[in-house]
Amino acid sequence: MIKKATFLTSNSDFRKCPSAHKPEFAFIGRSNVGKSSLINMLTNNKGLAKISGKPGKTQLINHFEINDKWYIVDLPGYGFAQVSKTLKADWEKMIKGYLTNRENLEATFVLIDSRLDPQKKDLDFILWCAQNAVPIVLVFTKADKLSVSKVKGNVQKFLKASNTIFEEAPLYFVTSSSTAVGREELSGFMEELSEEFYAQQ
Ligand code: GTP
Ligand code: MG
Repeated sequence: MIKKATFLTSNSDFRKCPSAHKPEFAFIGRSNVGKSSLINMLTNNKGLAKISGKPGKTQLINHFEINDKWYIVDLPGYGFAQVSKTLKADWEKMIKGYLTNRENLEATFVLIDSRLDPQKKDLDFILWCAQNAVPIVLVFTKADKLSVSKVKGNVQKFLKASNTIFEEAPLYFVTSSSTAVGREELSGFMEELSEEFYAQQ
């Protein structure tokens, strides 16, 4: 259970991130998919990560410390059309540099909007993760916006569309920041992986 969550740092370079002695979990996905909202839901703190109705709100690598034991990282979204090419390239470099170099990264949660059919931008990103040995877990967001059976259908469509990328089907969670669906499952998962991290030290 998440009892304590504090903001630590924002920066644009993995080399300046907090000490890598604690396990870490990153949240990534298209702009506006609900990364920051999900972090606030998980930590039960509406003001922790900055949220916006407009895409492109999160622009840096943001570290939050959880229960003094592990880090949650809020990342900028990918696939945001309304910024300049240079800025987009900078963000991409920052995110990819972080994901491939951060040694304590236990899992990267790739957030997928559960309302949509499989999107090329998400599939491209996941392919890049697979090619760069970045371990991912899928998190379907905004499940409150449609029926349970429709969510299930969209999850299956996504797994099917991505099945050539993975040797084994990826682990996934279904969540809603509005109704807190998936909170226990996702925080329990992070807690378990954290314990494994310390057990291996
Ligand atoms: P960037 O930082 O711009 O990349 O976006 P983000 O992925 O962090 O998204 P953010 O959490 O800022 O949320 C974007 C919008 O989606 C906001 O208007 C949220 O209120 C809304 N939203 C996020 N999660 C949910 C959810 O589970 N259900 C519903 N109904 N709305 C959500
Ligand atoms: Mg955000």
